[in-house]
Amino acid sequence: MFDLICRQPELLQMMSRFGIPLGVEDKTVAQVCDAYGVDTLTFVAVANYISFGAEAARHFYDKVSVHSLIDYLRRAHEYFLEFQLPAIRRKLLEAIVCSNVSDVNPVVGLIVKFYDDYTEEVRRHMENENKEVFTYVADLLAGRRRSDYEIDRFARSHESINVKLQELKNIIIKYYKPDAASDLLNSMMYDIFECEKDLQRHCGVENHLFVPAVRLLEAEVADKDEAPDASGADADNCSQLTEREKDVVALAVRGFRNKEIADRLCISVHTVLTHRKNIGAKLDIHSLSGLTIYAIVNRIVTLDDLEAPV
Ligand SMILES: [Fe+2]
Ligand SMILES: [Fe+2]
Repeated sequence: MFDLICRQPELLQMMSRFGIPLGVEDKTVAQVCDAYGVDTLTFVAVANYISFGAEAARHFYDKVSVHSLIDYLRRAHEYFLEFQLPAIRRKLLEAIVCSNVSDVNPVVGLIVKFYDDYTEEVRRHMENENKEVFTYVADLLAGRRRSDYEIDRFARSHESINVKLQELKNIIIKYYKPDAASDLLNSMMYDIFECEKDLQRHCGVENHLFVPAVRLLEAEVADKDEAPDASGADADNCSQLTEREKDVVALAVRGFRNKEIADRLCISVHTVLTHRKNIGAKLDIHSLSGLTIYAIVNRIVTLDDLEAPV
């Protein structure tokens, strides 16, 4: 691990996002990862992406632990929002004060406002990932697939968050005319360059490792869902319906026929019939009216749902 860090110091940030502190002694990467409960292949995958780019990620996305990757991304969000962006802001304010003796430069206030708006945009982006995307993936990891979301929806709308930072960099370098040269201003600009690269890599990990790994997870969960145990209910879990079984119940009690349920859920009629058989066995309810009462009591549907036209 020591050799790796010395060859590629940019991996230092990656280590802290995996929750690995310094003091690695002469341990190997695998020993250090084991000591801190980090999945070694996920660590190696991110390190390879950071060092060699998207091409390297293609060899790893099917080997990573999605759980470890989420921990890594959450910590990265915390780092940007709670540490890196506020640190640059403090330096920006100090640098502007140092370089603007007359204190009448009208651009100063606009630059700070631009930066604050940008930080807010990054916060919204990352909080959405923390709340919506990672919660969806946590459900997948627990074997539950929601029918109202998919990772490709995130992938299609996932925008780069470093564009505005490039713009800020351009504004300051080209148009901000300080009263005097300032080491602090130039040092702050260097931090912005580094932060821009870091954010770009962060988005890259999401696009090239996280999204493809979650796609695989979705397929695994769908396969399990598509092949229910024809023998019936799990004895230990007889009162629990899977998310897909709840979907079938919700449509059945609203009056949809098996073929319509199959079309709506994009599964075969045979699978619908198997789900219905398992639902009956798990709940010991075999009539539609009994299933309707069960669905209302367990909040699978509401009375309004039942009255809505199909
Ligand atoms: Fe992110
Ligand atoms: Fe993102």
